[in-house]
Amino acid sequence: MINFKKEIATKIAKVTNLNEEELEKYIEVPPNIDLGDYAFPCFKLAKDLKKSPSIIANEIKENIEIDKNIIQRIDVIGGYLNIYINKEVLIKTVLEEVAKKNEKYGYSNIGEGKTAVIEYSSPNIAKPFHIGHLRTTVIGGALYKIYNFLGYNTIGLNYLGDWGLQFGKVIAGISLWKEEYDFQNDEMGSILKIYIRFNKEEKENPELTEMAREYFKKLEKGEPEIVKQWEHIRKISIDNYQKTYKLLNSKFDSYDGEAYYNDKMDAIINELKNKGLLEESQGAKIVDLEEYDMPPCIVVTSAGTTIYATRDLAALKDRINRYNFDKLVYVAGSEQQLHFKQVFKVMELMGYEEYVSKCTHVPFGLIVDKTGEKIGSRKGNSVFLEDILNESIDKVKNIINEKNPEFEDKDAIARKVGVGAIIFNDLSNSRIKDEIFDWDTLLNFQGETGPYIQYIYVRTKSLLNKAGYIPKIEAIDFNMLKEKEAIEILKIIYMFSETIQNAADKNEPSILARYLIDLSQSFSTFYNGYKIITEDKTVQDARLFLTYVVGIVLKTGTELLGMEMPERM
Ligand code: ARG
Repeated sequence: MINFKKEIATKIAKVTNLNEEELEKYIEVPPNIDLGDYAFPCFKLAKDLKKSPSIIANEIKENIEIDKNIIQRIDVIGGYLNIYINKEVLIKTVLEEVAKKNEKYGYSNIGEGKTAVIEYSSPNIAKPFHIGHLRTTVIGGALYKIYNFLGYNTIGLNYLGDWGLQFGKVIAGISLWKEEYDFQNDEMGSILKIYIRFNKEEKENPELTEMAREYFKKLEKGEPEIVKQWEHIRKISIDNYQKTYKLLNSKFDSYDGEAYYNDKMDAIINELKNKGLLEESQGAKIVDLEEYDMPPCIVVTSAGTTIYATRDLAALKDRINRYNFDKLVYVAGSEQQLHFKQVFKVMELMGYEEYVSKCTHVPFGLIVDKTGEKIGSRKGNSVFLEDILNESIDKVKNIINEKNPEFEDKDAIARKVGVGAIIFNDLSNSRIKDEIFDWDTLLNFQGETGPYIQYIYVRTKSLLNKAGYIPKIEAIDFNMLKEKEAIEILKIIYMFSETIQNAADKNEPSILARYLIDLSQSFSTFYNGYKIITEDKTVQDARLFLTYVVGIVLKTGTELLGMEMPERM
């Protein structure tokens, strides 16, 4: 496919004698078409060339080679060059590329030979898998697929929170109250209830906390009975989460969680000691980070136990050895910002700065309801992710039963649409913002939602089916797609690969989500403005081909977000 930005940069480089790659970075896509397909701001060149931006712009315009294959026209407005590309060439290059690549359209090999490790989901097991873990699971899942599509060798890690005091609590609770719960029929539910009850009751009864500590200590010491109990709880928790993961299409290559690093604690503590980084402070062992404006990183508590940070240090060290990654992305809430900064800084001080520079914490905001209250925050009233997903599926099924009771595959459609709606809602805004969870918004088939995109996709399919169309690029007269609405669609499709790369560079799946909304809306505008199935066969073929191409991009794009497309809706 022709790289217009690059072509333009080459031409500007020729007349300015400046570095082509630098110039390419300055090229922008203007917010509206009246300012050209591309704009080149001359402000940054003013210093190098010692001339005013508007003089530079005019000089470039006068001297640049207008090669009708690429640039059709250039306007100068102030210090900007507004560049119009040849639309016929655009149409041809896009359609030929999609025809050639099909569902591989947009794929790139920029990641080839590189490894991207994505750590995501990572719930604290034995605690309820509640809606709070939706975001990391969905954002991480999308990044995993996006990096993969960019050619990276991608590794998905589920760093389970499978160690810590919560196990002491659950095991203590079981020893006290087991008879009161229905372990026979609902083991997981019983464990969760016990955990919630324990947390409530320990507030009035500090002896319970003491008891939990004792049990956890036994676990840490490796007391066989307790270890067996822990293993069992871990296993049924993971089995239980699989139901949610299956619904969300989440895949992991490793479930090595915090517990996996237990026997690697001494090594990391010794290494810190040998490197002269460990200090005693009030009975605890810490790494002082005052110089870096951070509170100390506690490595061993005054009670002699290791903590979350210690395990993350050991885990990072292990991942360096195991994966030799080019990128390691931690998808975890923004409340953990300081934690990761501390862990990264300590690793840097230990001499692993080369690897730390490849690590990124990808934070995100909370899930709140319409009024801004955090969902699931009311005490003892957790909102399980699996229940929410099933509720969404049920709601969609009701809609189908109302509108299209004749559909045979109602269950499959309801699952794809119901789950897709939740996923898309999570990804549709910049991740750092709080996500508003509101059924009416996220299931609105006309809004900027997952179901809307799926609906547009289904439209493309039914148009192609109705016409019995078999795409054949050789038969297309590119001149039949000159309407500005069609060009708009083609320009968006042209940007697909760049959009995916951009989403990966910023670890921001919302960039791709917004893109898919833009594409859907543009297609809807075209579809409402022009007849696709029409008397003129040449026109119809061209429009159907465009329809076909839109369908491919919508499908590939939504799949990268973790959604599935229904064939009917
Ligand atoms: N288990 C933690 C939680 O649920 C998230 C883990 C984040 N990753 C890490 N390497 N610390 O809050």
